[in-house]
Amino acid sequence: MARTLITGGTLLSSTGASAADVLIDGEVIGAVGSPGFFDDLAPTCDRVIDATRKFVLPGGIDVHTHMELPFGGTAASDTFESGTIAAAFGGTTSIIDFAVQRTGEDVRDGLATWHAKADGNCAIDYGFHQIVGGVDDEALRAMTELATNEGVTSFKLFMAYPGVFYSDDGQILRAMQTASELGATIMMHAENGPAIDVLVAQALARGETAPRYHSLTRPVEMEEEATHRAIMLARVARAPLYIVHMSAKEAVDAVARARDMGANVFGETCPQYLYLSLEEHLSKAGFDGAAYVCSTPLRSRAEGHQDALWRSLRTNDLSIVSTDHCPFCMKDQKELGRNDFSKIPNGIGSVEHRMDLLYQGVVTGEISLARWVELASTTPARMFGLYPRKGVVAPGSDADIVLYDPNGSTDISAKTHHMNMDHSAYEGIHVDGHVETVISRGRVVIEGNSFTGVVGHGQYLRRGLSQYLV
Ligand code: URP
Ligand code: ZN
Ligand code: ZN
Repeated sequence: MARTLITGGTLLSSTGASAADVLIDGEVIGAVGSPGFFDDLAPTCDRVIDATRKFVLPGGIDVHTHMELPFGGTAASDTFESGTIAAAFGGTTSIIDFAVQRTGEDVRDGLATWHAKADGNCAIDYGFHQIVGGVDDEALRAMTELATNEGVTSFKLFMAYPGVFYSDDGQILRAMQTASELGATIMMHAENGPAIDVLVAQALARGETAPRYHSLTRPVEMEEEATHRAIMLARVARAPLYIVHMSAKEAVDAVARARDMGANVFGETCPQYLYLSLEEHLSKAGFDGAAYVCSTPLRSRAEGHQDALWRSLRTNDLSIVSTDHCPFCMKDQKELGRNDFSKIPNGIGSVEHRMDLLYQGVVTGEISLARWVELASTTPARMFGLYPRKGVVAPGSDADIVLYDPNGSTDISAKTHHMNMDHSAYEGIHVDGHVETVISRGRVVIEGNSFTGVVGHGQYLRRGLSQYLV
């Protein structure tokens, strides 16, 4: 069993920072001690890593990715191999991807398909949520089986995308009732899809085809209304509810109100909603705005959404930052919507940049160091039944560790990123920190800007129920 000692670093957790050394025994953390405590053991270790002036933190957990997702007439451009390697470069050591059931398909077949895509192809550990795109008796039975036997304890429903993934209110209520019985979590894409489709058709009829109309036809009210409706349905069903990829401050207000009442309602946002905007990005000249088409859409900076989201991250009205990594190249993919914004595949890729972009929020004073770890690793582990195996550097936990250099720097660019994308939504953004070394279950997978891991090292994570309920 290989032994690694990390010395001299500042150990971060969701509650603070301390000087500590970490002893890794095989795939797990053997012990955490005060500085120098393990010095006598150093000669017996296979490797000693000097972490002086570095942060040592639990590996990032990105609970919202879409590798190889068939969507919008094409498929997300990262495979499980390329996407998990890119994730590792960015300090993420676990992902939870979405297995898909479309209307008319069997839920179990959807899960089997996702296992076949990921098995043997991942550089880091991975789990699955299940998208249920056709709620009926059979799908409800499958939910029970997945939560009980397969380690899939969260189910995503869509109030958007009629004809693709959409569920009506009755279907949503039934799925929530089943989730309630199981103790499972419903994840909701909260946008009023049927109403949005009307607005889209009207815009196109007026000749409004440019990418920015993607956001203008998905107004704040459509996210706010759907979020409120989902919360009310979850209240009736008594089901835990997690609203994914939130971008409108009014929708977050609805989550905050529910949380103030003690409800098990949680919100997630993503780097694109913190950093990018309708005015500066989606409204770029010509077709360039297509790179920023995602749903929920980017919002207006003038309306203050980005500032409000950072504030909600501080107050825990938003509990997690994931990426909703759903990459599409401009060439042959985003281009499908050159003359019609509604045909631009929805999605932005950033699985590689989440830890850095969130750390920049520490640098700019938006969040604390402890909150960085909490938002990016510890709460994701607790929310989705992975704690304490993941999300903390503590004896017995998997040795998923990031050495982060706060004196380093990262310049994000498509020229240097490792995601399978011909552009970057964050091109030119500078981060005052750098992922230096990444360890996945005891194995160094990133070192000095090189991938040193092995494809196939990543294991499937059977998850328990949420450990974050009130
Ligand atoms: O634009 C997005 N969000 N694409 C991925 C699919 C989804 O709804 O999460
Ligand atoms: Zn969604
Ligand atoms: Zn998504």
